[in-house]
Amino acid sequence: MDRFIIEGGVRLKGTVELSGAKNAVLPILAATLLTNGKSIIRNVPPLSDVYTMLRIMRYLGVKVTMEDGAVTVDPRNYSNYRAPYKLVSTMRASICLLGPILAKLKHAEVSMPGGCVIGTRPIDLHLKGLRSIGADIKIEHGYVIADGKNMKGSRVYLGGKFGSSVLATANILMAATLTKGKTVIESAACEPELTDMANFLCKMGAKIKGQGTPIIEIEGVRSLSGAQHSVIYDRIEAGTFMIAAAITGGDVVIKHACVNHLGAVIDRLENAGIKISKTKEGLRVRKTRSLKPVDVTTLPYPGFPTDMQAQMMALMSVTKGISIITEKVYPERFMHVSELSRMGAQIMLETPNAIIKGSSKISGAPVMASDLRASAALILAGLVAKGKTEISRIYHIDRGYHNIEEKFEKLGARIKREKEY
Ligand code: EPZ
Repeated sequence: MDRFIIEGGVRLKGTVELSGAKNAVLPILAATLLTNGKSIIRNVPPLSDVYTMLRIMRYLGVKVTMEDGAVTVDPRNYSNYRAPYKLVSTMRASICLLGPILAKLKHAEVSMPGGCVIGTRPIDLHLKGLRSIGADIKIEHGYVIADGKNMKGSRVYLGGKFGSSVLATANILMAATLTKGKTVIESAACEPELTDMANFLCKMGAKIKGQGTPIIEIEGVRSLSGAQHSVIYDRIEAGTFMIAAAITGGDVVIKHACVNHLGAVIDRLENAGIKISKTKEGLRVRKTRSLKPVDVTTLPYPGFPTDMQAQMMALMSVTKGISIITEKVYPERFMHVSELSRMGAQIMLETPNAIIKGSSKISGAPVMASDLRASAALILAGLVAKGKTEISRIYHIDRGYHNIEEKFEKLGARIKREKEY
């Protein structure tokens, strides 16, 4: 397994270019299974999660090719409605194939995804939502067995105890596009990645109103056609590089960063004393004064994204003073705490709160990546730590960041990928 070797202490300077959003491209690829025609999806990041999704689609009998960031999907002859455990268990997000397969083939068998290090990852809201629009759902031998012969539009309430669900909203939204009648999703997720998927569905001929708000209305249609779409840029990657500029005391322009998608992150970083300005290319992020500790609570969009929680904790670990991070979306999402502590960060966990006593003294150490965003936090800490940091198991990072070490190197960071044979 590869690892990163980072020598801390460089102020990052220059321009970094974002890639397409992983969490938009995955449901958008699933949505192509709803059509009777070919689709072309552009600005697709070459990530291992994307390759996993393409592998599952091929297993179902869908023709997919990927070239220069463009994926061509031809679903015209797929008939296999069963997404197997051996593939689904490698990527939880593949649960978003359930809705489109069910709507198109009127039957679907998708393995339960199982949990991961950030939490148990239940799918009760997915199943509740599909049942609300008439799907007959059984759980057998670890598979969701769904029958869609009697589906019809209905009101669906998708709020859970942690708020809305991104992929449950995606599943019901996709299924409703081919379900006769009107479906109204209440307490829908509002994440920009979902809005991007809904906009793609509309290009295919779906009748959708309210995407990006908690109430989404869908009028079912008889069929959808293929379409072309370019995926939005990755706001979590943008946030990660914003914090990289902040934590190293640098001055970085993040090309394609969209202010409208980053309100909560901008708010917290400006409160901490970071200067953020819009440029024609995207956002410029500079540290021009010493930072102040800020408190953060993660919430569904437009709240502070849970996918930025670990990165913010790295920044607060080197910001003098006390800050509190409260994780309201995945209360257990603190795998990064133990590794940051190995680097000298002073963090006390009272789940779902982390109390951080920031200090400038963190030092490089051998640490282990555990999940995608925790790994990003370890890179950020390594960029500012005194001495060398060695991050193992970086396959977690490759799931969600394309060429991250090259992007950091271009900004001046001393980071190398070492292949472990
Ligand atoms: C999406 O996961 C993202 N993944 C996650 O990003 C992100 O952290 C998450 O949304 C929250 O923003 C993709 O889009 C591929 P949820 P999703 O359903 O949809 C609970 C990353 O690092 N819940 O919105 O699976 C759940 O346990 C990944 O890029 C239920 O209780 O997340 C959690 O506490 C990690 N029942 C909360 O809702 C359900 O049926 C939000 O989960 C579904 C979810």
